[in-house]
Amino acid sequence: MSAKGRPQGGSAAREPDGPSQGRAPECEARTRSSEPQAWGGHRPNDTLLRALRREPTPYVPIWLMRQAGRYLPEYAALRARAGSFMALATNPSLAAEVTLQPLARFPLDAAILFSDILTVPDAMGLGLCFADGEGPRFARTTADEQAIASLTVPDLERLRYVFDAIGEIKRALAGRVPLIGFAGSPFTLACYMIEGRGSADFATVRRMAFARPDLLDRLVRVNANAVSAYLAEQARAGADALMLFDTWGGLLSPAAYRRFSLAPTRSILARLPAGIPTILFTKGAAVSLPAIAQSGVSCIGLDWTADLGYARRRFGERVAFQGNLDPLALLTDPYSIERAASALIADSGAAPGYVFNVGHGIVPATPPENVAALVAAVHRASRSCNGAEKTSGSGHSGG
Ligand code: CP3
Repeated sequence: MSAKGRPQGGSAAREPDGPSQGRAPECEARTRSSEPQAWGGHRPNDTLLRALRREPTPYVPIWLMRQAGRYLPEYAALRARAGSFMALATNPSLAAEVTLQPLARFPLDAAILFSDILTVPDAMGLGLCFADGEGPRFARTTADEQAIASLTVPDLERLRYVFDAIGEIKRALAGRVPLIGFAGSPFTLACYMIEGRGSADFATVRRMAFARPDLLDRLVRVNANAVSAYLAEQARAGADALMLFDTWGGLLSPAAYRRFSLAPTRSILARLPAGIPTILFTKGAAVSLPAIAQSGVSCIGLDWTADLGYARRRFGERVAFQGNLDPLALLTDPYSIERAASALIADSGAAPGYVFNVGHGIVPATPPENVAALVAAVHRASRSCNGAEKTSGSGHSGG
């Protein structure tokens, strides 16, 4: 599938500069042979995919949840021009442009599709809109027996704009970095579908889990069928890795989490094309790590309250980990950010299979220069000899 997006020429993509500069000479010697060969005028950067597969990498790759978003003035400008979030997200050229905005500024190791998890329930006919400053709203909810009984997997043609955006992004990237496709987890989608909007406690959903578990079971099953088809199509369109966002799974008791969130998520993972790396981010569910580590996912995304070092020592032989800097660290200063990044990298240990990220999305007030400081700090700290040990005995194949 990645061959589809291989170099088309004429792209504005630039060399990935940060990760290969300034390496200590002794580390340079150990890692140079592992750098992929130049082709098409660009060096492909597959560090993320290697880390997701727990293969040795010359440095720790970094990308950031919500890396394209409101903290970037160029995003705000384009959104204003498009008129609304949905106008931006449903236009493949504009969605591609937003996806590439953070990569023009920072030497990130991955692009993530610009879209939203709620496009799937929108395609089911729920009528999504994002009112300014208010978050998502659905015109219709699926909160009762009849609405849930009549819910079906949407025709994927209704999400064609997403697959078209992936094609455009892959052409523009020309292999510079991998592209992450994504969807919401069946349970997190159900939260918004039942309440019709965001909520502090998703009380209706949690009551349904006790009063009508049969309805919630059916809702998450339909969502799992929709999401597995949707993600498989994203992979066919060119996505190099697939991520599931389970923002609200941690609201449930561990037993309810396993039934209503992890079980349908596992059924998605089992149906995805073989070999594509997968990431499952769950907020507030570190207590369920043993079960998540058995889910068949390639990489577990941790929020900032989880203990990364412990998780890596306990489950690092089985899965990769991604995370988990508190996004509010980015509201400080370059010195504090560098200190926090170095501490996390040290805590993650030298074993392969670690992807640096924030523990939840970047907040809109984040100064872009602090993101630049973070990306540089992660590359610098992990490229030092300590980081280079991640490559020892690696036998890189170069492809
Ligand atoms: O990470 C990325 O840069 C890729 C794009 C992306 C967006 N949303 C763009 C977006 C991704 C992966 C998402 C996922 C998403 N969307 C989640 C799961 C991850 C998480 O943050 O918990 C959830 C719960 C949603 C639903 C959603 N979309 C909410 C609650 C909101 C409003 C509040 C908020 O957090 O921003 C959105 C809108 C949204 N999605 C924006 C962006 C850039 C802001 C829209 C705007 O311009 O006003």
